Amino acid sequence: MPEIIDVCPIEELPPGERRLVEWEDLEIGVFNCGGNLYAIEDRCSHDDGPLAEGEFDEENCTVECPRHGSLFDLTTGKPKTLPAYVPVDTFAVIIEDQTIKLEVE
Ligand code: FES
Repeated sequence: MPEIIDVCPIEELPPGERRLVEWEDLEIGVFNCGGNLYAIEDRCSHDDGPLAEGEFDEENCTVECPRHGSLFDLTTGKPKTLPAYVPVDTFAVIIEDQTIKLEVE
């Protein structure tokens, strides 16, 4: 069963910003790309690098793994450059009562 967790009030995550949240043993990065919100697991599929803490390019909606530099598309979780080649998990983002929420399972 999916569970809904609160991230933060919508005004606390403006375009160009990100936020990390924890749920059970998962860490998840939530990103605002020009008003659209995306969430990915904060763990690179290549070698477990802290992916969501890397350089965030809002315009292209990508994040660069700080460990070996793979670039990931935040909209799909898919890597665009090597060495990673397996997508990371993505999570549905919901806006309800002016609050950003995630669907996790
Ligand atoms: S751990 Fe992310 S590219 Fe290697």
